[in-house]
Amino acid sequence: MTTLSIRPITESIGAEVTGVDLGAPVDAATRLALDRALADHSLLVIRDQKLTPAGFMAASSVFGPSMPQHYSQFNMPGFPDIGVLSSRDSDRRPDGSYILRGTECWHTDHTNRERPPKATILYAVSLPSKGGDTSFASMRAAYAALPEEDKRRFAAMKTVNRLDRHNTARAEDKEKYDVGIVHPLVRTHPDNGTKALYFHPTKTERIVGMEPGESIALIDALLDRIIRPDIVYRHRWRLGDLVVCDNRAALHQAHADYDPAEGRLLYRVIVEGDRPV
Ligand SMILES: [Fe+2]
Repeated sequence: MTTLSIRPITESIGAEVTGVDLGAPVDAATRLALDRALADHSLLVIRDQKLTPAGFMAASSVFGPSMPQHYSQFNMPGFPDIGVLSSRDSDRRPDGSYILRGTECWHTDHTNRERPPKATILYAVSLPSKGGDTSFASMRAAYAALPEEDKRRFAAMKTVNRLDRHNTARAEDKEKYDVGIVHPLVRTHPDNGTKALYFHPTKTERIVGMEPGESIALIDALLDRIIRPDIVYRHRWRLGDLVVCDNRAALHQAHADYDPAEGRLLYRVIVEGDRPV
């Protein structure tokens, strides 16, 4: 018998979880412990999972019900709430070399939803021989480090969110998910009341009351200021890692520093969340 262990990875973000098999039924006490750990640490790295697509769905349900993703062309046949993130779907240049798609900026997922996902859950199925890490940044720590004057200024701002400025969404996805959803730039965590910066740089059309260009410049300058090594954890993937990111308190970023022809494959589920307040 192994026992559940939750060990912080850095002071501001991340905990490594061992001693749990999410491919087997998970009891209520373990579910509660994992959900609490997610709210406390903003990111869980759960090692050594052996999951089929059905098992991945069951594992994800520990954190809540899944919700549909808006790039439906990448949904898994038979498991429509699993997004298949494959480097082989990257766009190619005429010479056959790959252009990696734009998940390389810091962002949180699906802010163009009225109730954006509480968590994004990723499962490593196939990995390149080197590179392809994912970084995570604590927006709770970023907010806490701001001068009081900025905290007040940003707390009064709201973002208008649409699909990414350059997107490959299908027409039916655009119709449903590109309608302009307003969220606060500073949100309060529903589980523990902490405050965090909350935005997606390429899904922000504008800040309410500001021009789009001025808004994007503000967001870019804010990102430049807040991303520092002490609020970031860079995850080097191992096969079988299941990583759960609390989208209410963290941004993430993919590192496109590997050869896509090697075939990096992750499964992704997003979990239903609250309307940000
Ligand atoms: Fe993402």
